[in-house]
Amino acid sequence: MSKKILVISGSDRNGSFNTQLAEQFVNAFKTQGHESALLDYADVPLLSQNNEYPTVEAVLNLRNTVKAYDAFLFVSPEYNGSYTARLKNLIDWLSRPEVEGDAQAPTVINGKKAAIASAANSTYGKFVRKNLNELLAYTRMNPMEHEGLGIRIPVEAWQTGSLLLDQEQQEQFNEFVKIFVDYIEK
Ligand SMILES: Cc1cc2nc3c(=O)[nH]c(=O)nc-3n(C[C@H](O)[C@H](O)[C@H](O)COP(=O)(O)O)c2cc1C
Repeated sequence: MSKKILVISGSDRNGSFNTQLAEQFVNAFKTQGHESALLDYADVPLLSQNNEYPTVEAVLNLRNTVKAYDAFLFVSPEYNGSYTARLKNLIDWLSRPEVEGDAQAPTVINGKKAAIASAANSTYGKFVRKNLNELLAYTRMNPMEHEGLGIRIPVEAWQTGSLLLDQEQQEQFNEFVKIFVDYIEK
């Protein structure tokens, strides 16, 4: 059955390898007959409890977008052994009640299925994958029981600017797509 899968890059770097990987996921999901898009959240401000309510329009729009999706794939660089600040900020907003003081109400991400991939250096993003997985569980999402896909950024990519997966990485990517789609179709 066709699902709606939102893909979220943790990087806003121009030419980001993680955003390139995220775009490859969007294409792979679409090829398999699912609806998929890359989330643009450049307009989401830094969360401060001084400006949380009334909630700014950018966050209201973000929540409406997120509500419409069945599942989420986070694709994040590793910054000092963890996820990026902008990704944490996004998840913090999504983890908050829509109505002030209504802490028992479900949030727009409660119970939503999710998984993680990362393009990183010699760590293959293992620390960001572990920490992000814990954050997803903490915010009561439904993360897949899987270590996530770790892609080592090839040396040539830093010269060309393009993240081209080699054959082994492509096979790992395809396998991960299969496992994730099986998970969200259950
Ligand atoms: C603040 C900062 C911390 C970083 N820490 C790590 C790290 O812990 N592990 C790693 O593999 N790469 C680290 N890097 C390098 C990033 O993986 C690299 O810049 C990568 O290209 C970022 O992903 P992007 O191309 O999607 O923006 C760090 C980069 C920055 C800016």
